[in-house]
Amino acid sequence: MEEIDEMLETAQMFYDGKEDYKRLTGKIACNLFFEPSTRTQYSFQIAEEKLEMKVISFNKKSSSIKKNESFFDTVKTFDSFGIDLLIIRSLQNEYYKELAGKIKTKVINAGDGTSNHPTQSLLDILTIKQEFGFIKGLKILMVGDILHSRVAHSNLKIMKRLGAKVFISGPNEYLEKDAIFIPLEDGLLSCDVVIMLRVQFERHDKKFNMSFQEYNEKFGINSKNIGFMKKNSIIMHPGPVNRNVEISDNLVECEKSRILKQVKNGVFVRMAVIEYLLRNK
Ligand code: NCD
Repeated sequence: MEEIDEMLETAQMFYDGKEDYKRLTGKIACNLFFEPSTRTQYSFQIAEEKLEMKVISFNKKSSSIKKNESFFDTVKTFDSFGIDLLIIRSLQNEYYKELAGKIKTKVINAGDGTSNHPTQSLLDILTIKQEFGFIKGLKILMVGDILHSRVAHSNLKIMKRLGAKVFISGPNEYLEKDAIFIPLEDGLLSCDVVIMLRVQFERHDKKFNMSFQEYNEKFGINSKNIGFMKKNSIIMHPGPVNRNVEISDNLVECEKSRILKQVKNGVFVRMAVIEYLLRNK
């Protein structure tokens, strides 16, 4: 908890443009993304550049992965280069267990399969704190494909730990059994924060059996149900947004939306996490 508070404080300092921080000039970061990414990958890169680090971005398609080299051997190779930091995103849940004790380089998890996305949770928490000033006691609703969302899994754990009341909503087949369900309309009426999630089509075995319009009417935010939301409540989304599926096109940047603020916060949170990890190195 103290670690989280400290990183959030540093992130807020970066956000406020306070320049009296130590740079990590010349330290080398390698960004190993084995899954597609825009926001996470490039905000890590921008964060590293702002800290004056040297950045190597790994390209899976032109690497020896194409010659069937394994994930483990690829990471071991980078570890042997003698660098300072590895940022890893993998489709394998808990990939870090395979690496524990076997590499020397510090690793930041940029998302592992359907399991965790810790820096996304931190930037979500920073965004909420900037809005309300606190997390404890807030009612937070996550809507959509909870089951396959690492963002939902990370947020469920960390937001509960910080004292929020977390609810979920969405299609039956995408719900988690051990989280508290609430029908969407009730959730919109009562919650302070509404986090919409993308349907993770790429992680499904079964075909998605609903038109996007039907999904939007039943499980999305649209012009009919946005009026149910509390006066000071906000809408968030980790991105990428599928417009007119989880949110109607004209509402993506509405007055309640903090979606682009989340993107902005992503850079500062990632700077803070990197700084925290490498500070004493
Ligand atoms: C999320 C992810 O990759 O888990 N996006 C992100 O990192 N901002 C969510 C998603 O892909 O739906």
